[in-house]
Amino acid sequence: MNELYHPPRHIVRNANVKDYEALYQRSMEDPEGFWADEAKKLKWTRKWNKVLDDSNKPFYKWFAGGKMNIIQNAIDRHLETWRRNKLAIIWEGEPGDVRTMSYHALNREVSKFANVLKAMGVKKGEIVTIYMPQIPELVIAMLAVAKIGAAHSVVYGGFSTEALAARIDDAKSRVLLTADGGFRRGKITDLKSIANDAIQRSPTLEVCICVKRTGHDVYMENDRDFWYHDLMNLPIASPNCATEVTDAEDLLFILYTSGTTGKPKGLMHTHGGYAVYTSTTHKYVFDIKDEDRWWCAADPGWVTGHSYLVYGPLINGTTLMMYEGAPNHPYPNRWWSMVEKYGITVMYTSPTAIRGLMRFGDQWPKRHDLSSLRLLGSVGEPINPEAWRWYHSVIGGGNCPIMDTWWQTETGGHMITPLPITPLKPGSATKPFFGVAVGVVDENGAEVAAGEEGKLVIKTPTPGMARGIWGDPDRYVETYWKDYADKGWYKAGDSARIDEDGYVWVIGRIDDVIKVSGYRLGTAEVESALVTHPKVAEAAAIAIPHEVKGNAIHVYVILRQGITPDKALEEELRETVGREIGPIAKPDKVIFAESLPKTRSGKIMRRVLKARAMGQDVGDISTLEE
Ligand code: WTA
Repeated sequence: MNELYHPPRHIVRNANVKDYEALYQRSMEDPEGFWADEAKKLKWTRKWNKVLDDSNKPFYKWFAGGKMNIIQNAIDRHLETWRRNKLAIIWEGEPGDVRTMSYHALNREVSKFANVLKAMGVKKGEIVTIYMPQIPELVIAMLAVAKIGAAHSVVYGGFSTEALAARIDDAKSRVLLTADGGFRRGKITDLKSIANDAIQRSPTLEVCICVKRTGHDVYMENDRDFWYHDLMNLPIASPNCATEVTDAEDLLFILYTSGTTGKPKGLMHTHGGYAVYTSTTHKYVFDIKDEDRWWCAADPGWVTGHSYLVYGPLINGTTLMMYEGAPNHPYPNRWWSMVEKYGITVMYTSPTAIRGLMRFGDQWPKRHDLSSLRLLGSVGEPINPEAWRWYHSVIGGGNCPIMDTWWQTETGGHMITPLPITPLKPGSATKPFFGVAVGVVDENGAEVAAGEEGKLVIKTPTPGMARGIWGDPDRYVETYWKDYADKGWYKAGDSARIDEDGYVWVIGRIDDVIKVSGYRLGTAEVESALVTHPKVAEAAAIAIPHEVKGNAIHVYVILRQGITPDKALEEELRETVGREIGPIAKPDKVIFAESLPKTRSGKIMRRVLKARAMGQDVGDISTLEE
């Protein structure tokens, strides 16, 4: 805990923020002034009346009365400057095909597709579901939807039919954008077949637009399915399209994430506050300069992709890198070869990816000149000091500070994070970002002593925070704001401690959320998936620490009367979870049990299962019934 890494002098000298303490203090004393200053750097059709409207807590509004469409900032304003000809996107497909697009070209594609969507009758306020591999059209689709004032719901391409259908249904989407497939580990993922099955189950869906990526045979239904390239060649796909004027508080997207119940919730984010928050954090945390080549290796299907692959970087006029496939395909040097080839300066990924590549040994990165790198980033789960040190020394050559950023789908952007000037402790996300006050507290909301573990809370409203849960405002209040309602604090669902120097150490989830390879899943989702199997009576899922994935899922299953467990059934159950949610949710271990530990009120005590599985003391079990 005493290991301290000071930033190299050249980084400090050129940093966008030179004095963290002073600016942090300002952001605490005058948060509205601080955020107004940042907002003024963006383009608005009409200025706001009020920076923060807190008249209906916890449903905070930011920049109320202001008019801004995020596309005005992510694309339009760059066209008026030299950045028009700057590269916006460098994309590499897994087979090695490369595409690049300037801001000018990106605008052209987005405008054309925006016109296609309009011709399909897509209206302001409507939610368009996007289910795609990591190809440029995914980004183009998101931006085109935003441009016309509609909202997107991107569903991760690794999700199954059931998961996709549930999300289309919840959003009541009429239009789905997908692709025939994508390339992953040298194989084709068959997205269109999954989409076809999902559409069967989605009564609201009328139109499916399909991008041709792999070219394999797929079923297209007449009058419902259209090829993207056919539509883009029609006269309706004019390259001229005015960006729709939207209110700062108009819905930009919903993004589904797992929580404590079986049903994923759609967190809502809006144009104005989200644009301000993602661009500010991206610029300060990653010290973004015009000459940077930024690579966020996250999938756009998750919040990191939304905020730091797409919106934050494009608003900052950055050149971003995007890669379709697996990090180790065809060999474990794939990522490092791309860092060298494209001269990447700042790279942002997850501890799981780092640990996974570390396993293959130093010889793979050592084959490449990685000296273009200036800064590194980590997100999604706690990074263990061993992986941190490897990332720092082998990838960063010992002189690239690591920005270990803690945040959530709910917060829209970084909450606890170093800046490039911050002395680093491996494994700590260090200090709160500007405008963010955090605390580590006990059950009653009392601050715990330095170094002690407690519950992480956020005490201040921020512009990037979710505006609620789609279709379920009560659940938003209930889930996040009820526990400390008297104080107005947000419950993060993580445990953490703050050391003597004020550095925050996030330990992990304390609710029913599991982080597997940085992906967010719910125990309830996995359990609901298992009980769809006719032989299963009851199930409980827990997270067990895993060397590479951070956590692995273990499930305890009670079978129906008269069913005897065997190896084949075990595999069948794993497949069931894969089919219901997606391959990432498949449990590592299926354990058949006679009974489950429960409280008197019938709640499964997962804590007891986990302690027992890990050979630890099961703790207080006075409430245990069975
Ligand atoms: C975890 C991902 C430790 C945490 C952006 C949080 C982290 C959850 C970190 C949100 C980090 C994210 N250190 N834990 N740097 N970043 N987490 O919504 O448990 O997919 O609550 O957002 O990821 O996951 P989500």
